[in-house]
Amino acid sequence: MMDCYTKLHFSTEEELFCLASYPGMEEHKKQHRNLINKSFSIGSKSMRLRDPNIYLDFLQEWWVTHINEDDLLYGPCIRKYLCI
Ligand SMILES: [Fe+2]
Repeated sequence: MMDCYTKLHFSTEEELFCLASYPGMEEHKKQHRNLINKSFSIGSKSMRLRDPNIYLDFLQEWWVTHINEDDLLYGPCIRKYLCI
């Protein structure tokens, strides 16, 4: 279920962490790995049970917690690096 775009998105984010020396980089990268692994297991379950809501619930939780909370944490560091 995890598509190439998502992997590209994560790797781009992680490259920015390196460039900006984001102190939370290792923890955030770990979250990305966990999301990828969880996506595969939940995606398989969703397809096996023929219930797309299982996967949609996972995506909703990811968007709410990771993007709206965890991704916001690196914003100040990246803005400082980019001088914006
Ligand atoms: Fe992220």
